[in-house]
Amino acid sequence: MAASKVRPRRTRQSELWRRLVRETHLRSESLVYPMFVVPGKGVRRAVESMPGIFQLSVDEAVRHAREVAEGGVVSVLLFAAPEHKDARASDALAATGLAARAIAAIKEALPQLMVWADVCLCGATDHGHCGHVTAGGVIDNDSSVATLAQVALNYARAGADAVAPSDMMDGRVAAIRALLDAEGFSSTPIVSYAAKYASSFYGPFREAAESAPAFGDRRSYQMDPANGREALREVLLDVEEGADLVMVKPAGPYLDVIRQVRDAVRIPVVAYQVSGEFSLIKAAAQRGWIDERAAVLETLTGIRRAGADLIITYFAPQVSAWLRA
Ligand code: PBG
Repeated sequence: MAASKVRPRRTRQSELWRRLVRETHLRSESLVYPMFVVPGKGVRRAVESMPGIFQLSVDEAVRHAREVAEGGVVSVLLFAAPEHKDARASDALAATGLAARAIAAIKEALPQLMVWADVCLCGATDHGHCGHVTAGGVIDNDSSVATLAQVALNYARAGADAVAPSDMMDGRVAAIRALLDAEGFSSTPIVSYAAKYASSFYGPFREAAESAPAFGDRRSYQMDPANGREALREVLLDVEEGADLVMVKPAGPYLDVIRQVRDAVRIPVVAYQVSGEFSLIKAAAQRGWIDERAAVLETLTGIRRAGADLIITYFAPQVSAWLRA
């Protein structure tokens, strides 16, 4: 019997055809590049588990931000690992704290670069949890939310283009929105880490951000990887509370969640290709086991195809360079 008249290969026969019928596109505008700021001056310390990623002092962060911006990166996401850590997360609350200084310095040097500030307590607390810890060792929701709102305000005042709460406490989007509005920052958007899973893929990040919990784990606030419906519940709650963008994190193992979220909301959906996803590709590529460029573009295209409008990825500078070439 002759092959069918229907031949999907017709539109795959040349690069020209493949480009013509391509459904999903990557642009550097869709990518957000995370950066890690540490105390000191002239510090540029390699993160061992993340080849090509550095912990940078504020001056070096400005320099690196300029470099990547010239290479086509349009947005960065800042994390700070201050030296002083205490129960109150004081450094994150201070206008002179590390994160606030980094935000202000980068915005001053590069007003055209979009700067998102990660809002959490784990980098500035001595116990490394994302909220306050009670005497009984429980992560207390409501006092944490009050502090997180103050942290967000501190970063908005420093000039952040958006605040991105990554703590997973209940009700923090509403609290942050109310405080920002009351203090004259009604124009500062909230990028909510709405569906953030308790993932093994954050391991390398915790080296970079010096934010590993001193005891226990994050499973009483981050989501169970087994749950998809619950992600929608979290996302819809954050939308109701006033989130301007919602995030799913990690990205690769949660493509189904990204798709469901994209179908359920009308605001932009962000996916975070996290440190472990980055390191897996880097490690295999360094051994010659995988073609790095092809693998990176395939994972990012897959995340976009699943429904992510924006992707936070440590590959942003590399991808921007490839897209320009
Ligand atoms: C902390 C935070 C984490 C990440 C972003 N913000 C780690 C965690 O929750 O333990 C992970 C990012 C990555 O792995 O790239 N609130």
